[in-house]
Amino acid sequence: MSATAKFLKLLFVVQSVAGYEKETFGFPKRERGSSCDNTYTSDTAKNGSITSPGYPSPYSERTTCRYDFVGRGRERVQIVFQDFNLFHPTEDSKDCNDQDSLMAFMHIDGRMEKIETFCASSLPNPIMSNGPRLKLEFHGISGSRYSRGFKATYIFTEDFGIKSGVQLPDYPCAFVYNSSVSVKGHFHSPNFPGLYPRDTECHFYFYGNQGERVRLHFLYFDVEGVIPCEATTASDYVEFSNYMNRDRKYSRYCGQMNEFSVESDRVFFRVTFRSNDRLDGKGFNATYQFIDEEITPTVIMIPTNSGHHFKGVVSFLSLVVLLLSILSR
Ligand SMILES: *[C@@H]1O[C@H](CO)[C@@H](O)[C@H](O)[C@H]1NC(C)=O
Ligand SMILES: *[C@@H]1O[C@H](CO)[C@@H](O)[C@H](O)[C@H]1NC(C)=O
Ligand SMILES: *[C@@H]1O[C@H](CO)[C@@H](O)[C@H](O)[C@H]1NC(C)=O
Repeated sequence: MSATAKFLKLLFVVQSVAGYEKETFGFPKRERGSSCDNTYTSDTAKNGSITSPGYPSPYSERTTCRYDFVGRGRERVQIVFQDFNLFHPTEDSKDCNDQDSLMAFMHIDGRMEKIETFCASSLPNPIMSNGPRLKLEFHGISGSRYSRGFKATYIFTEDFGIKSGVQLPDYPCAFVYNSSVSVKGHFHSPNFPGLYPRDTECHFYFYGNQGERVRLHFLYFDVEGVIPCEATTASDYVEFSNYMNRDRKYSRYCGQMNEFSVESDRVFFRVTFRSNDRLDGKGFNATYQFIDEEITPTVIMIPTNSGHHFKGVVSFLSLVVLLLSILSR
């Protein structure tokens, strides 16, 4: 390739990214392979699949395709990849500059902002929009006869990709975990293991039966922020509470953490996840388990008038009666 051709090729890439919003594109339309541009609206279908042109046959060089997703109301767009195989000279999926790539753009503060770029052949994690719209842009700059391209499914959803618990209809993002329904299970941040969407608040409410507490064990935790995880440091965070409102007993959690556990004091527990309008992480994945409140000496020696403490005393007494009846046989 001559120097001029190289320069032109570079210009093509730069302009196609810069010219994304305004259609001030310096090249004739036919050079863009624009027949592969497509708009997907939730009014037409709530889910479906998208591919690079000709998939699984190789895409041709200088292909640019836009995939525009338009949902409504509280819908979010989630993209889940099944196959991803783009030409890359080194297979280093971190360095996507000037390489065949797929970019994700979202509306942030009224602007389209590039959130992620994927290249090479490692399967991307799911993508989720922060509102009802999402744009993907595929740049097959070089291509090769060995590169299949990509295949993914899209879904317009209101469940944030959270399939456990019962979603409360009157909240933007709230899920209930009821001991009567399931004593243990999993829960995770929106779109896990993909990046969580921006400007999103999700509540996880745990309701035990009388005499129960909930034990949470976080297997993975990566929430962008710096301790003490407050708005002043522009931190995303996870908050724990024994109440519906804030509980000073627990400090907020953010940053990258090793595995850890948190337990409620009583039957009710709340976990709240909050992301702001910048920077993202993968979020968290955790297990929950409702456990019987332990009969601790303090509970037995200092009985209070609260219901479950009373129950603690009763079960201690019945244990004594049981032991006596065994011994007296
Ligand atoms: C996709 O939509 C069809 C109906 O259009 C529905 O039957 C199917 O369950 C949906 N799939 C998912 C994963 O939601
Ligand atoms: C938990 O489930 C039980 C049994 O289905 C139900 O009676 C109770 O109201 C539920 N509690 C909450 C807080 O949803
Ligand atoms: C969360 O972690 C558990 C245990 O490693 C795993 O079984 C589960 O699939 C994970 N959930 C998600 C959504 O990745």
